[in-house]
Amino acid sequence: MMEIKPLDAPFGCAVYGLDVAAGVDAATCKALHEALYQHRVMVIKDQTCDEAAYLTFGRQWGAPIPHVIDSSRMAGFPDMMEVGNTTLRGKDDDLKRNSAAFWHTDQAYDADPATATMLFARIIPDVGGETRVIDMKAAYDGLDEVMKQRIDTLNAMHLYGATSGKDGEAPTAALTDAQAKEVPPTLHPLVRTHTVTGERALYGVAGTAFGIEGWDAAEGEALIAELKAHCVQDKYIYEHKYKVGEIAMWDTQMTLHSAKHIGAPNGPGTERLLWRISVRGKPAVFQ
Ligand SMILES: [Fe+2]
Repeated sequence: MMEIKPLDAPFGCAVYGLDVAAGVDAATCKALHEALYQHRVMVIKDQTCDEAAYLTFGRQWGAPIPHVIDSSRMAGFPDMMEVGNTTLRGKDDDLKRNSAAFWHTDQAYDADPATATMLFARIIPDVGGETRVIDMKAAYDGLDEVMKQRIDTLNAMHLYGATSGKDGEAPTAALTDAQAKEVPPTLHPLVRTHTVTGERALYGVAGTAFGIEGWDAAEGEALIAELKAHCVQDKYIYEHKYKVGEIAMWDTQMTLHSAKHIGAPNGPGTERLLWRISVRGKPAVFQ
């Protein structure tokens, strides 16, 4: 029997007794979605999926997004990415290894951003490699009414790499000209309405947001920095330490996340490899 329990953390839940590789029926799938939307983060324990089974599960959450950096797509499975520091496929350089070590939400630089991201833990180091996640609904609810009024109808301008290396964050890999053409600057509301639940939360106030539509550049940057500083308080953050076999996922409409910096692999217990799927659009179970 599947069991869903809250994590011993400010938010998040864990799922026990589910075998994703065996296939997830519609009723179970709906229960999982509701749990993710309620808890923002969900950790499905003890999975044994191969690539195909994992991708089948990923498609139940939306349309997988092949990453704009096409060289980072998984060989044979372009809808997936390998994340980590493993040298197995020649991906060991500091920028790639730490390309998610800054606060962001996935594909906020795209007009049609991700709605969920999942990471299947294949190899986990003894120390480090955690992901931190912010509950942006809680952060929104924690704003005072004056700020809520002020930002209610504002749009943030997003661009891939626009804030790379700023505000103490790790830099992101630059796009080629061809890749950059696929993701021109785009707008998203500062307060976004969840496409399934209708809940409102702060959205994308870090990572690719570089200004406010119609505002002076410095004032826009200052507002985004103020909102980010509000969000990165410990009371809104859950830090996940992965175990091999877990599928960890988060609701990208209602969270920010940041990978902790990790070094090059250096013998047993220092390698990190996770399979990532990000999806967009409404899940089939809610269509
Ligand atoms: Fe990410």
